[in-house]
Amino acid sequence: MTQTHTIRRPDDWHLHLRDGDMLRAVLPYTSRDFARAIIMPNLVPPVVTAADARAYRDRIIAAIPAGDEFTPLMTLYLTEDTDPADVAAAHAEGLITAVKLYPAGATTNSASGVSDFTKVAKVLEKMADIGLPLCTHGEVTDPSVDIFDREAVFIDRVLDPIRRDHPGLRVVMEHITTSDAVDYVMAHDSTLGATITTHHLVINRNHILVGGIKPHYYCLPVAKRETHRLALRKAATSGDARFFLGTDSAPHTDANKLLPCGCAGCFTAANTLSILAEVFEQDAALDKLEAFTSLNGPAFYGLSPNEATITLVRETPEYPPHIDTPDGPVTVFDPAMPLNWTT
Ligand code: NCD
Ligand code: ZN
Repeated sequence: MTQTHTIRRPDDWHLHLRDGDMLRAVLPYTSRDFARAIIMPNLVPPVVTAADARAYRDRIIAAIPAGDEFTPLMTLYLTEDTDPADVAAAHAEGLITAVKLYPAGATTNSASGVSDFTKVAKVLEKMADIGLPLCTHGEVTDPSVDIFDREAVFIDRVLDPIRRDHPGLRVVMEHITTSDAVDYVMAHDSTLGATITTHHLVINRNHILVGGIKPHYYCLPVAKRETHRLALRKAATSGDARFFLGTDSAPHTDANKLLPCGCAGCFTAANTLSILAEVFEQDAALDKLEAFTSLNGPAFYGLSPNEATITLVRETPEYPPHIDTPDGPVTVFDPAMPLNWTT
């Protein structure tokens, strides 16, 4: 049996680092293993302008533990007031790597997101011109649409029209959870990519709801039925260049998760690579792990893959059930299966 597995150092193409004490508490779990990450802009208030992104980038860089090499790839939060010129200038100076679209009200801290998509047409036009990718939170917020159908409906009502109106716009469907999203990506060209989280490769909706409600498995988009999880596994482990890792590691304190109206998000940064190695090995696809974690993402974003490598060792990983932060404990995602690889 193989005892070690070496891959190029991975990148995380969808990560929530938060700010302040929480940023300082969670960043080391990412910077230990990952070289770069696309940093989500849904702070309170959100990262809307180039000036916001510059200041946030500097706070992240100041929080990197000594000895770790980590590059935050910044994003701007798209609002109906976003100025195309500000976006273009931020891209030209190398400050931002993508713009993030949240439908207003779709998820944590998305109140400033977009309601009227015609109002962002000029920004999207500019982004298509300059080759700046759009990352989408792909869920409609129409109260009449069932929460388990919101991703599939988003594809028809929002994503497909945007892509038809802006040919050439590079789009990432973030944290996909359905076979509908996998099929949509497969049916299109390489201007379209998708990130898949660690947790959506492991849990289906039964994990959240059977035998008592499990708030630590609640995230958005919410995990779907098993057939969808299997479609995600197949896409992730296929090596197809359009699918790459975005952990969506989204720390919330236990106090904010364990409420009558608890926050959405799974904190997976502390054990993501161990879980992924397990998943890929179970599917006899350990040889495709590097494509998913370290090659496909940079290729989509037009960046070079990392030169440095990381070696996974066949040993039971050690990680705490929760990490302590000045704001309170944050529970680490429980993969509900034994893990056999560590970094
Ligand atoms: C994210 C968060 O907590 O910021 N939560 C989540 O459930 N994934 C927001 C998001 O990416 O939807
Ligand atoms: Zn997210």
